[in-house]
Amino acid sequence: MPALAYAHGRYLPVSDAAVSVEDRGFQFADGIYEVIAFLNGRFLDWDKHLWRLRRGLAALHIEGLAADRALSAIAGRLVHRSRFADGLLYIQVTRGAGKRDHGFPAGIEPTLVMTVRRFDIRQRLPQLDTGVAAISLPDQRWDRCDLKTTGLLPAVLAKQEARLAGAFEAVFVKDGHVTEGGSTNIYMVDSAGAIVTHPISARILPGIARDTLLGLAREAQMTVVERPFTLEEARAAPELFLTSTTAPILPIVRLDSAPIGSGSPGPISARLGALVWAEVRRQTGWSG
Ligand SMILES: Cc1ncc(COP(=O)(O)O)c(C=O)c1O
Repeated sequence: MPALAYAHGRYLPVSDAAVSVEDRGFQFADGIYEVIAFLNGRFLDWDKHLWRLRRGLAALHIEGLAADRALSAIAGRLVHRSRFADGLLYIQVTRGAGKRDHGFPAGIEPTLVMTVRRFDIRQRLPQLDTGVAAISLPDQRWDRCDLKTTGLLPAVLAKQEARLAGAFEAVFVKDGHVTEGGSTNIYMVDSAGAIVTHPISARILPGIARDTLLGLAREAQMTVVERPFTLEEARAAPELFLTSTTAPILPIVRLDSAPIGSGSPGPISARLGALVWAEVRRQTGWSG
């Protein structure tokens, strides 16, 4: 079964789905998106993703999207029709299609597109044991990184640079501080064993996996400190790791080709890995 889409009220193969060239998503990246994992046919953190989608739409003054119940029904149908057990749901909402004009055209309806594709999250389990490499790059994004907009060009360029360097992720640095990754949140462990990550602000996306991880860490009485940390601190840290919907937790064992700590995943990442994956299984009944 190929990847499946929902567009203009129809369910169809992704290759047959289309939006207008006048869509403001295409013209201006005037839209918000979400990526939601499903395992065993069940969505992970559905309510949190929907909350973030609504928050982004409100910030962009995009009005008139179908109600949560309708979105949930479309998403459920899409996954069901795809017959994928494990995969990713992509939701994109743009301001709609209209005559090209920077200001909002009157009377247009938002465009809603959803797609599902197969994604085997099992591949992250061996990576949890080996860790991944990252490179640091200047954070060249705008001042509203808390919004998950489709305007991703700085991340696109940074991720490509990471790929060319043989790295999994690009770690963004702004004013000497690590903000987040190209498509992940970033954490270090300090010398006292505390988990340190950039606080929620306009400089980072409030990651759903971040929220889950910090909640689990606090429940387990681990120390969490939400403060900016410098690239130098990151280089000297015993452990670094990242989180995202597609990588619930992965240790970073090399940064700019230099080893982090011993160069192997450390005990805090391992402990968090056990907690995070237990939560994934609890929510979805996944047994992979
Ligand atoms: C810039 C950025 N930060 C963090 C994340 C992680 O967010 P989440 O855990 O909600 O997937 C993403 C996800 O795509 C992202 O694009």
